[in-house]
Amino acid sequence: KDISIIGVPLDLGQTRRGVDMGPSAIRYAQLHERIERMSYQVEDLGDILVERTPVKEDNSEHNLKNLKSVKDTCEKLAAEVDEVIKRNRMPLVLGGDHSIAIGTLAGVSKHYNNLGLIWFDAHGDLNTAETSPSGNIHGMSLAVSLGHGHDLLTKIGGYFPKVKPENVIIIGARDLDEGERAIIKELGIKVYTMHEIDKLGMTKVMEESIDHLKGCDGVHLSLDLDGLDPIHVPGVGTPVPGGITYREGHLAMEMLSDADIITSIEFVEVNPILDERNRTAIVAVALIGSLLGEKLL
Ligand code: ARG
Ligand code: MN
Ligand code: MN
Ligand code: MN
Repeated sequence: KDISIIGVPLDLGQTRRGVDMGPSAIRYAQLHERIERMSYQVEDLGDILVERTPVKEDNSEHNLKNLKSVKDTCEKLAAEVDEVIKRNRMPLVLGGDHSIAIGTLAGVSKHYNNLGLIWFDAHGDLNTAETSPSGNIHGMSLAVSLGHGHDLLTKIGGYFPKVKPENVIIIGARDLDEGERAIIKELGIKVYTMHEIDKLGMTKVMEESIDHLKGCDGVHLSLDLDGLDPIHVPGVGTPVPGGITYREGHLAMEMLSDADIITSIEFVEVNPILDERNRTAIVAVALIGSLLGEKLL
């Protein structure tokens, strides 16, 4: 399928500046060239315009930092993703912080009757304003997509929820807040923590995940680079030790490629200011290569 790249230079879903430069860093790591080499037809739609509402006017809502700016950006992103899918192309969205998943899923989900979602992350991003320890919306985007959270966010695209709890799989979790553990139990969300990955091995985790989503008519991959171990990806804003290795990451992507189930892609949380010589973006592009079927021989 032909691919459309969309950059989202948003860093307002959290408080460490720099993740807005993620799309540039990933482009400098030769994303376009790399996928074109695999004989996809690729177009780069450039970046979504991020307009920042002055903090004074945008801090009115309790524990939801930059609510209006995040909402406005996600609405624009949803419309752009929708257009891309209508043109029968595959969206490849580059963050930006993980709050952008709210917009991506709002654009993707209406095209499927039974969308699956693989959330590759050290975190659950399952907080609401009531449970969030930080007020950062990037820690709430999965909850919002499940229909839990502030109306201004859950209703983006005009419908909710974007995905059903039984169709969500979190892979790589090792830092969950109290309220996130509660919602995981309440909704019965499938989570492969690092413990399960260590114990079962990535092969089994991916086999089970692919099997779990076999009834879905589309699967969105939302990959937060902090799911990987910070040894491999130092350029992330909320690093947590003990993550997925470089090899395990590639294995997961290759298995998804072989299963041929992914219909939309998003890579988020690359922060070039915190990075070393663009390593994190380079890893991101390598993983995207594997996901799209790059083979050595
Ligand atoms: N759970 C923490 C919070 O709510 C961290 C979230 C990190 N999320 C992310 N997309 N990196 O603030
Ligand atoms: Mn910031
Ligand atoms: Mn994360
Ligand atoms: Mn995340």
